[in-house]
Amino acid sequence: MRTPAEQTGRTRVAVVFGGRSSEHGVSCLTAADVIRVLDPDRYEVLPVGITPDGRCVLESEDPQRFAITDGRLPEVDAARATVALRPSDEGGLVVSEPGTVPRTLGDVDVVLPLLHGPWGEDGTLQGLLEMAGVRYVGAGVLASAVGMDKEFMKLAFAAAALPQLPYVVVRPRRWSQHAAAVRAEVEALGLPVFVKPARAGSSFGISRVDDLDQLDAAVAEAQSHDPKVLVEAGVLDGREVECGVLQGLAGGPAEASVVGEITIDPSAGHDFYDFEAKYVDGTAALQIPADLPEAVTAQVRAAAVEAFDAIDCEGLGRVDFFYLPDGSVVVNEINTMPGFTPTSMFPQLWAATGVPYAALVDRLLQLALERGTGLR
Ligand SMILES: Nc1ncnc2c1ncn2[C@@H]1O[C@H](COP(=O)(O)OP(=O)(O)O)[C@@H](O)[C@H]1O
Ligand SMILES: [Mg+2]
Repeated sequence: MRTPAEQTGRTRVAVVFGGRSSEHGVSCLTAADVIRVLDPDRYEVLPVGITPDGRCVLESEDPQRFAITDGRLPEVDAARATVALRPSDEGGLVVSEPGTVPRTLGDVDVVLPLLHGPWGEDGTLQGLLEMAGVRYVGAGVLASAVGMDKEFMKLAFAAAALPQLPYVVVRPRRWSQHAAAVRAEVEALGLPVFVKPARAGSSFGISRVDDLDQLDAAVAEAQSHDPKVLVEAGVLDGREVECGVLQGLAGGPAEASVVGEITIDPSAGHDFYDFEAKYVDGTAALQIPADLPEAVTAQVRAAAVEAFDAIDCEGLGRVDFFYLPDGSVVVNEINTMPGFTPTSMFPQLWAATGVPYAALVDRLLQLALERGTGLR
C-alpha cells in the first residue's frame, strides 16, 4: 500500500490535543500554534481533539478557533461527532464515526500527541499507537509512564546516579494504617517539605508544608489528584533552572539546549512556582540563558542528557533542576511533553539554541518518521 506521503507528496500528521487532564486548554492553544507553523506544502493536518471527558472528535482545521476568547481558554468542541480511535485489524489507526461509513486514519504517517498529564503524556495514548503500529512524536510507553510517575522517575534517576532531594513515598494503605511511622519519616526529612501527587503536572495538588500540623491537609490535597503521594525535602533559596533535550538525528546522541531559569516575582505572594504563577497571573518570568557560572551550565546540560537517557526518553524532554545556594545542582523532574506554546520554556530554550519554533516542530516530526514502530 502506498503511504499517504507517496500519494500526495505530503506527510499526513494527526495532531492530537485537548485531553482529560487539567491542562486541556493549554494543549488546545499549543495545537493552534503547531498547526499554524506546519508548512501546508509538506504537511497535511488531521486535527483530533479529545474532550475533557475523554471523547475523541475530529476538530476544526482552523487554528483561529483555538484562541483565548473573553479571557477563557479554548476547549475541544464536544458538539462535534464522536469518533472512536482504535487499532485496526490490518494495522493502522481507525477512526469511526457512528452513522457514517467508518473513516480510517490507518494511512496517517505520524501522530503528534500534544497532550500533557495523565491520559496522554503517561504512556496510555502511546500504548494505543504502538498497538496500531503508528509512528508518533515523543517518548514511548515506558519513558512516558516513568516520566509521569514521580516515584519511578526518581528510581530511574537514582540508578543513573543523578543527585536528587531526599523523599518519602506515601501509599494510601500505609498512610491510613501507619500514619505515625510516615510522619516520623517526613520529620526526618526536615521542614519545609513539598507534598506532591505522584502523577500530575502543572503544580496541581502540590503544597509546601512548613509545620507538621499541615501534613494531613497537604496529603489529602495531593491524594485528590493521585492516591500515591510523594513528600520531598524542600529547597530554600534554590534557583529553578531548566534544560531542553532533543533526541539526536540519525541515531546520534541527544542534544541539550541552553539553560533557562524561572524567576518568580516575590511580591506576587507565591510560595513556589505554582499553577497561578505558571499560567494565570504571569508573575513567573523566563531568563534565557540563565545567568550561571559556566561550570554549572555545563553540569546542568550534561545531567539533562543523562536524565533523558536514564528513562530511555525519545523525541524531546525538558529536565528541571534546583541550583542550590551551596553551588550544587539536583534534578527535580523530566517532562516528556513539556509546555509547547511558542512562549513556553522548551521552545524558547531551543530558539535561543538556534532551532526556531517551526524548525523544532519539523525536527520532532522527522525524528518520529525516522524512528519507525515497534521495539527499537
Ligand atoms: N523540593 C522542593 N523544594 C522547593 N520547591 C519545590 C520542591 N518541589 C517542588 N517545588 C516547587 O513546586 C513546583 C512544582 O513541582 P514539580 O515537582 O515540578 O511538579 P509538577 O510536575 O507539577 O511541575 C516546582 O517548580 C517548584 O517551584
Ligand atoms: Mg515541574
